[in-house]
Amino acid sequence: MTDWLEWHRGYDDPVSALSQRLSIVQDYADAALRAMGAGPTRVLSLCAGDGRDIVPVLAASERREQTRSVLVEAEPLLVAKARERADRAGLEHMDVRHGDAGDPASFADFTPVDLLLVCGVFGNIDDNDLVRTITHLPRLLVAGGQVIWTRGASEPDRRPQVRDLFVEAGFQELRYDGAPARHGVSLARLVHQESEQSQKLPARLFSFLR
Ligand SMILES: C[S@@+](CC[C@H](N)C(=O)[O-])C[C@H]1O[C@@H](n2cnc3c(N)ncnc32)[C@H](O)[C@@H]1O
Repeated sequence: MTDWLEWHRGYDDPVSALSQRLSIVQDYADAALRAMGAGPTRVLSLCAGDGRDIVPVLAASERREQTRSVLVEAEPLLVAKARERADRAGLEHMDVRHGDAGDPASFADFTPVDLLLVCGVFGNIDDNDLVRTITHLPRLLVAGGQVIWTRGASEPDRRPQVRDLFVEAGFQELRYDGAPARHGVSLARLVHQESEQSQKLPARLFSFLR
C-alpha cells in the first residue's frame, strides 16, 4: 500500500512537481471562492490529505466566516495534521473527518456544496471508478457549483480522457493547467444539471488501488 505520509514529503521541496501543482490548486481555489455570490458557502475536499491546499486559501479568504468546510481523509495521521492546520488557521467552521471518501455516507449530510476538491484521486482508482465518480459528481454540487480536480501525467496520458468525462458530466472547464507539466489541474463549473440529479448516489464511488 502507498505510504501517504511519505507521498506528502514531495511538498517539502518548494520546486517539486507536487509543490507546483499545489500552488495551482490554491490559485484555482481562491478564484473559485472569489467567483461565488454573497451568502453562506460550503466546501468539500475528498481524500484531503493534510489539508494544505484549501486551509490557507480559506484562512485568507474574505469568505472564511461564511464558509463551512468538510475534509474527508482516511489516514489518521494526516487527519490529525489537517485538524492541526485548521486549528492554527483559526478555521472554526472546518470539520476534518476521518473517513472513507469513496463512501458517499461520509459526506451525505453536507452535500450539495459550492466547491468540491478531488485532488490526488483520479490517478489512484481504476477506469470504472473514474467514470462512475465523475458521472456522479454533479449530485454533490449545487447548480453552478465548482470542482477542482487533478490528474498527473502517465503513459498513456489520461488527462484528456478525464477532461472529456467532466464535459460529458455537465461541467464547463474554466481553467486548466497541464502538459507539458507533470500535473493536470482543472477548475470546472457545473453548467448542466440533468434530471438524474434527483437519483441516488451509488453505495460506493471509488476505492484506491494501492
Ligand atoms: C495523492 S494523496 C492526495 C492528498 C491531497 N488531496 C493532496 O492533493 O495533497 C491521496 C490521499 O487520499 C487518501 N485516501 C486514500 N483512500 C482514501 C479513501 N477511501 N477515503 C479518504 N481518503 C483516502 C490518502 O490517505 C491520501 O492522503
